[in-house]
Amino acid sequence: MSTTAPSARLFDFIVASNRLPVDSVVNADGGQGWSRSPGGLVAALEPVMHSHDGAWVGWAGEADLELDPFDIDGLHLVPVRLSAAEVREYYEGFSNDTLWPLYHDVIAAPSFHREWWDAYRAVNQRFADIVAAVSAKGAVVWVQDYQLQLVPKMLRELRPDLTIGFFDHIPFPPYGLFSQLPWRTHVIEGLLGADVVGFQRDADAGNFAQAVRRLKGYATTGSRIEVPIVDESPGVRVFSPIKRGAPSRTVIAKKFPISIDADIYRAAAKDPGIRARARQIRADLGNPAMIMLGVDRLDYTKGIRHRLQAYGELLAEGRINPTEVILVQVASPSRERVKSYIDLRDEIELTVGRINGEYSELGHQAISYHHHSYPREEMVALYLAADIMLVTALRDGMNLVAKEYVASRFDDDGVLVLSEFAGASDELTRAIRVNPHDIDGLKDAFMRAVEMPHDERRSRMRYLRKRVFDNDVEKWSNGFLEVLAHHRHEKDTRSR
Ligand code: F6P
Repeated sequence: MSTTAPSARLFDFIVASNRLPVDSVVNADGGQGWSRSPGGLVAALEPVMHSHDGAWVGWAGEADLELDPFDIDGLHLVPVRLSAAEVREYYEGFSNDTLWPLYHDVIAAPSFHREWWDAYRAVNQRFADIVAAVSAKGAVVWVQDYQLQLVPKMLRELRPDLTIGFFDHIPFPPYGLFSQLPWRTHVIEGLLGADVVGFQRDADAGNFAQAVRRLKGYATTGSRIEVPIVDESPGVRVFSPIKRGAPSRTVIAKKFPISIDADIYRAAAKDPGIRARARQIRADLGNPAMIMLGVDRLDYTKGIRHRLQAYGELLAEGRINPTEVILVQVASPSRERVKSYIDLRDEIELTVGRINGEYSELGHQAISYHHHSYPREEMVALYLAADIMLVTALRDGMNLVAKEYVASRFDDDGVLVLSEFAGASDELTRAIRVNPHDIDGLKDAFMRAVEMPHDERRSRMRYLRKRVFDNDVEKWSNGFLEVLAHHRHEKDTRSR
C-alpha cells in the first residue's frame, strides 16, 4: 500500500470510526507499513468511501502514533492519536470490556470503571474536535459504532451547521440490560445529537426508543423522536412530555441492515486462480466428503464453544465420521489483551486439542484450526471449498461472514447454518436457522446440513443469493444517506 500526504483541506463528507481501514504495522525491514484492519465495519465502509470524495477519521491501531493526515489507495485518512493509557481504558476497557459485553446480552460480565468512562468521554471529545476541524460548512458526518456514541452530541455543540448520522453496528440492548450502565443517560443524550440513528434490526431500534422514553421522557412515534432544543428533562425515569409549542428537533431512529459488496465476492469466486486454490484446499485437507467451515473473530459472542461442543458430540456418537467430514475453524485474533478474550482463546484451543486428540487420525484431522486472519482471496477460496458454513453467534449485530459465504457461492451450492441471534437471520430466512444454546438442536441442524439433498441445497442457496444481491452494501449506505439528506432538507425547509 502506498501513501501520500494530502494538502490540508475541508471535506463535505466525513466518516468517523474507531479504526481507520488500515492498521499501522512494522514491515520486515523495520519500517512502518499498513495492513487492512479487521472486522465487518471496515469491509462495509470501504466501498462507500471509494464512491464519495470524503475523509475517514479514526485510530491507526497503535498507541502513541503521531501521524498527519495521509492518502492511501484513494482514501483520505485523518488519524486520531490514542495514548497507551487510552488504548487500555477507552478501547480495551470501556468499549470492549464494558459496552461490548453489555450490548451482547451480557454473555460475559461487563466491568464498570469510572476511569474508563472518563477516558471514553475524553477520546470521544477528541474525535468530535478533529471531525469539526476537517468538516466544510454544512458537511455530512457519519459516525460509526459503539466506541463513539458521545460524538454526535459533542459535534452538534461544536458545529450546529453539520448534518450528523450515526450507525450502530452491534446490537442495542433491551432496557433491562442497558439500564445497568451507570452512564446510560449520557449515552442516550450522545446518540440523540445525531439527526439519524441507524441500527441493524427493528429490535435494536425499538430498544433504543424505549431507553429514550424511559431515561429522557421524550415522545417517540414510529421511527421519529422529538427532542426539545432546550432540554428541561430532569433525567432518569421521569416522563416529561415536550410542552406544546416548545421548539424541538426530530431524530430518526430506524433499521438499515448492513451488507457487503456482493459483486466483489462473486467476481473473486469466479476467478480461475481462486477456484484452483479452493480445489487445492480440499486436496490439502485430504479431499473429505464434507467440509464444514467456521470463520469468526475469536470472540465469545460468536458461539465457537457451542459449535465445538455440538461437533464433538456428533463425533462421539458416531453420527459424523472424522475420516469423511472435517471442520475448518478460522479464528482471527482479536482484542488480545482483554481478559475474557485471553480466557476464551485458552478454552477454545483446549477443546480443539481434545477433540483432535480423540478423533484425528494420521492424515485426517477432525478439526483444522487456524488462529489467523487471511486476505479476502483466501477467504473466498475457503468459502468455495466449504460445503457447510456454520454461523452460530450467541448475539451478533449482523454477521457479514454469512453474507460473504452466500455471495461467493455462484455455483448455487453450499448450506448456511445461521444463528437466529445474528442480524443476518432476519433476511436470510432460508438458511438452516439455529438456536446455538440448544446443543441437541444444533447437532440436528448440522446433520440436516450434511444430509441435505442437492436440489434443496440449490433452491435454498438461490433464495439466499437473491436476498444478498438485492440488498448489498450500496443499498445500505444509499438508504442511510438518503434518509439523512431528506432529513436535512426537512430541517432547511422548516427553518426558512
Ligand atoms: O462491528 C463491530 C466491531 O467492533 C467494529 O467496530 C470493529 O471495527 C470490528 O468489530 C473489529 O473489532 P476491533 O476494532 O475491536 O478489532
